[in-house]
Amino acid sequence: EKGGFDWFMEKEINEQPQAVADTLLGRTDETGALVLDELRISEEQLRSVDRITFVACGTSAYAAMIAKYALERWTRIPVEVSLAHEFRYCDPIANDHTLVVSISQSGETMDTLMAVKHAHDLGALTLSICNTHGSTIPRESDGVLYTHAGPEIGVASTKGFLSQITACYLLGLYLAQLRGEAYADDTRVVLTELQETPDRIAEVLDRLERVREIARFMADTRSVLFLGRHVGFPVALEGALKLKELAYIHAEGFAAGELKHGPIALIEPGQPVFIVVPGPDTPHGLHGKVVSNIQEIRARGARTIVLAQDGDTAVEPFADEVIRVPRTSPMLQPLVTAVPLQVFAMELANAKGLDVDQPRNLAKSVTVE
Ligand code: F6R
Repeated sequence: EKGGFDWFMEKEINEQPQAVADTLLGRTDETGALVLDELRISEEQLRSVDRITFVACGTSAYAAMIAKYALERWTRIPVEVSLAHEFRYCDPIANDHTLVVSISQSGETMDTLMAVKHAHDLGALTLSICNTHGSTIPRESDGVLYTHAGPEIGVASTKGFLSQITACYLLGLYLAQLRGEAYADDTRVVLTELQETPDRIAEVLDRLERVREIARFMADTRSVLFLGRHVGFPVALEGALKLKELAYIHAEGFAAGELKHGPIALIEPGQPVFIVVPGPDTPHGLHGKVVSNIQEIRARGARTIVLAQDGDTAVEPFADEVIRVPRTSPMLQPLVTAVPLQVFAMELANAKGLDVDQPRNLAKSVTVE
């Protein structure tokens, strides 16, 4: 049942190209336009949306954070991300022009369900991005966009996460299509590249030996930091969460720009830091800024483990380790950079002799508040 792998998580990590491909399948017509009939929300209602709020917990909330960058760029609709358990108690602002998008792999997370019900009571349109057919959250929502990752059994979300990002991008591109044009990118170009990402993810899966070795060497590590910017920031948060939940190691993710506002004080000789580096062509010179961040922490003795695109040689002078990922456009990078971080956490937990599929204190679906 584990398909020859030691853990369900490992199997599910390896299923990610398929999970993303299946989430994209059948969602375009013969002209290449997106068709999301299953949404159950009319085009007219969607066109009237002037505000989007994502509600989710844990890894699903990181998918929502990534979605915010993409949806605002493509649709110019203001997007907010709220942890579902915070949403309900903060007097959220929502009305019939608000689209509240919940993201839940299981479709049973109580905090997220209650946020959806609250949004419904406020008169908002509710859309569920969910991986589980017939589960409660899609049933309680106006519309649904299923991810087609297949059953996720390992407690730590992996293929669920990548398929959520994919579904969010489909939603963003669809809203852009409905509204005429995408503002910043050509939606067709992004969609075509999105359709090619399963191959990019497969390439990542083929070159994970070094990350596994690094993880095995680090079995005694007590603290690991993760840095990223832009869509790489939620990826850093996800890398830290995976390490906490699987390997029980203290881990924190930061936006790299925050470093000098406090976290850089944590850097002491030998401190391992993962850095998710945006591609060299990322707008606003972000690549150079992250390279400077690496330089700053390296000068203070950090052990830098750098995730960088193929051909990005600028990171090499400041990297103790470079983990290469295939080139993608900036927005699609999380679909490749998340993978080595999942494998790192899994392998480290394995090296510590821990149960990768069933970490202590955690349940696959959190059906209580
Ligand atoms: C982390 C993880 C959790 C879930 C969270 C939400 O690996 O699995 O953080 O992402 O509990 O679960 P769903 O998506 O089922 O609502």
